[in-house]
Amino acid sequence: MAGHRPYTLTPLPVGAEVHGIQLQQPQPDEVVQQIKSDVTKHRLLVFRDQGIMSGERQVEISSWFGELESTFYKHPSSPHPDVFRVSNERAEGCTDVGRTGWHIDGSFQTAPFSHSLYHIVSCPTQGDTVFAPLHEIVGSLPAEQRARWDRLWMLSDRRHRQAKPLLYEHPLSGQDAMCFHLGMTDGFVWDVGTQQQRVASGAETRALLDEIHGVITSSCRHLLYSHKWRPGDFIISDNLALGHEAAPETQLPLEQVGLRIMHRTTVKGQHIPRKRQFQRELQEQQQAGAG
Ligand SMILES: [Fe+2]
Repeated sequence: MAGHRPYTLTPLPVGAEVHGIQLQQPQPDEVVQQIKSDVTKHRLLVFRDQGIMSGERQVEISSWFGELESTFYKHPSSPHPDVFRVSNERAEGCTDVGRTGWHIDGSFQTAPFSHSLYHIVSCPTQGDTVFAPLHEIVGSLPAEQRARWDRLWMLSDRRHRQAKPLLYEHPLSGQDAMCFHLGMTDGFVWDVGTQQQRVASGAETRALLDEIHGVITSSCRHLLYSHKWRPGDFIISDNLALGHEAAPETQLPLEQVGLRIMHRTTVKGQHIPRKRQFQRELQEQQQAGAG
């Protein structure tokens, strides 16, 4: 039945909360298709009351969106090789994750992850994950600032050193997206592919990272959604549409907030971030080649 949802959606400041579905149970194909389309439309789905899901099942759900790709250190306590297990306790999972700056996941990849899925296996009393809607953030920029950001390309501090546009269009929705990581950027390049192309100085790069941080946390603060975890929460996010950061309280010790265990899975990206103008040029080249 097209458009019929076997669950209800309640809007959140970013995305929607989902009730009335148990993801631990097998889901028919039309429900899977509906969830996928809702993730693209709403960008963040928060499924409540999912109990404690096995790593195996989280991996299965993640694979609705494509091939899994896990790039991080495998913690010995992780229930599955594709589950990245994070915690506030070293023996239980990787610590200090998501705290180096606002980012999308896999910004260092040729194609950043398309989706990130999060399940809180042990829920502490404090420690939000905060999400930033990139389309609205880019849309809020004054014309001069947007034009300047539009000229910037980021260089990751990890492998895959090709420059990626800071601003580009989301490959599925066409909305404004950003390829960024405020804690893992080596530098910016101005005006890639033009005669004005040049690498930003270290001071310029630091100022630009501060500027982006300021926009997200000050002028766009009202746009953010700070997710307070409840036991049983399972989140599916459109990683290209949302920036995020783990709140400082996620690192508070076990004795103070209880044990935090989060299982994260990531789906291999299928799109290299590209500016629309470059995409057009590429298509024209392909057409010329085919002709
Ligand atoms: Fe992250």
